[in-house]
Amino acid sequence: MGKKIKQIAIYGKGGIGKSTTTSNISASLSKLGYKVMQFGCDPKADSTNTLRGGTYIPTVLDTLREKNKVQPEDVIFKGFIKGI
Ligand SMILES: Nc1ncnc2c1ncn2[C@@H]1O[C@H](COP(=O)(O)OP(=O)(O)OP(=O)(O)O)[C@@H](O)[C@H]1O
Ligand SMILES: [Mg+2]
Repeated sequence: MGKKIKQIAIYGKGGIGKSTTTSNISASLSKLGYKVMQFGCDPKADSTNTLRGGTYIPTVLDTLREKNKVQPEDVIFKGFIKGI
């Protein structure tokens, strides 16, 4: 039996702290030893920024517009790393 995947959805009205809260939850869970994937559906595409030193990662939609096909490595990046 593989490990169970847990999914947590964070949503709410604009500017209430969703991205900040979400990235802190991701960082905390990773510190606890969980393997975490944070997937942003936010129009500002900034929900992972605080996990990556303030930098943006390419969005699925922008990548699709440029290349017509999206590979996982185009849009999935390492974020917060324990102890760093
Ligand atoms: N707990 C908090 N206390 C004080 N300020 C906060 C807190 N959480 C977030 N903020 C600040 O509030 C602002 C909005 O936060 P954030 O970008 O996380 O919201 P959001 O819900 O993701 O917004 P959007 O809907 O635009 O994506 C940011 O400037 C952030 O630093
Ligand atoms: Mg946000």
